[in-house]
Amino acid sequence: MIRVRDIRKSFGSIAAVDGVTFEVHRGEIFGLLGPNGAGKSTLMKILAGVLTPDSGEVFLSGQSVRFAGVRDAVRAGIALVHQELNLADNLDIAGNIALGREPNRFGFLDRKAMHTQAREWIERVGLDLSPASDVSTLSIGRRQMVEIAKALSLRAKVLILDEPTSSLDVSVQAQVLNLMQDLAQQYGVTYLLISHDLAVVNHLCDEVAVLYQGRVVEQGSPQTLFRAAAHPYTQALLAAVPRLEPSARRQRSPTPPARQPSAQACPYAARCPQAQAVCDISRPELRPLGKHHTVACHLDLS
Ligand SMILES: Nc1ncnc2c1ncn2[C@@H]1O[C@H](COP(=O)(O)OP(=O)(O)OP(=O)(O)O)[C@@H](O)[C@H]1O
Ligand code: SF4
Ligand SMILES: [Mg+2]
Repeated sequence: MIRVRDIRKSFGSIAAVDGVTFEVHRGEIFGLLGPNGAGKSTLMKILAGVLTPDSGEVFLSGQSVRFAGVRDAVRAGIALVHQELNLADNLDIAGNIALGREPNRFGFLDRKAMHTQAREWIERVGLDLSPASDVSTLSIGRRQMVEIAKALSLRAKVLILDEPTSSLDVSVQAQVLNLMQDLAQQYGVTYLLISHDLAVVNHLCDEVAVLYQGRVVEQGSPQTLFRAAAHPYTQALLAAVPRLEPSARRQRSPTPPARQPSAQACPYAARCPQAQAVCDISRPELRPLGKHHTVACHLDLS
């Protein structure tokens, strides 16, 4: 469905995304983990047309695509639900869902058609609300659902969610996450999900990539990663949360190190408890470790 090949993006001397390649199949939920500043949002902004990559390619349903902006990406079927919610408080739900594409009749806004269309999407995401409801009165969880309804009404085939549940309480999180799973199964919506919540990633994702200093350092199914993490960074990330319980599952450490943009070293060398001499002079490439499991580390992990 969506494939990225060797995507790179620098801001000055910082290689925010440093050669990322992966593929997500239709109806899959692909999770991205990694410390603050790893390049997760930059990568997703590239896929959503917010940023243009310095190099690399994005393929959608096998076709190479290049987006001039967000509208271009939306037209191609990719929508980004921001961490910062983007709804217009002065409009009702229907007005927000139709924003920029309001139906007209004889040159005038066709409010009835707008509300009918909105009702369909509101029901589809399981919200029991009138399209005429004022969005400013809604809880954050419900606003998030309206955002998702809006993205779906744009006929998004790929939905990118950047920390969608971080500001929600646990019961609303469960609602949003169940909705995502239903939509993936029923309509084949494909998701790219950034989350610091390991339990959410473990429960929801079909595949997980761990990003560190702009590079994928480990990738595999959650079953593999959460039970048999091979990369020392992934191990450290998971070790801080021994059991994936709701009370202890939000994880922001280990803290990222200062970037070393010019170094040829493994990006994790300065913090890695298992670093060896070779790690200071050579960056490990991703290599297969098992079926659907890849890792970038010099250690003999077999
Ligand atoms: N517009 C920008 N201008 C300059 N530097 C940027 C810009 N956007 C991101 N960066 C830098 O690129 C790197 C990657 O940032 P990014 O926001 O993609 O990380 P992230 O993985 O999403 O982190 P977080 O978990 O904190 O959201 C960071 O070093 C950040 O400071
Ligand atoms: S390559 Fe070396 S420094 Fe990097 S993660 Fe592996 S052991 Fe640690
Ligand atoms: Mg981010």
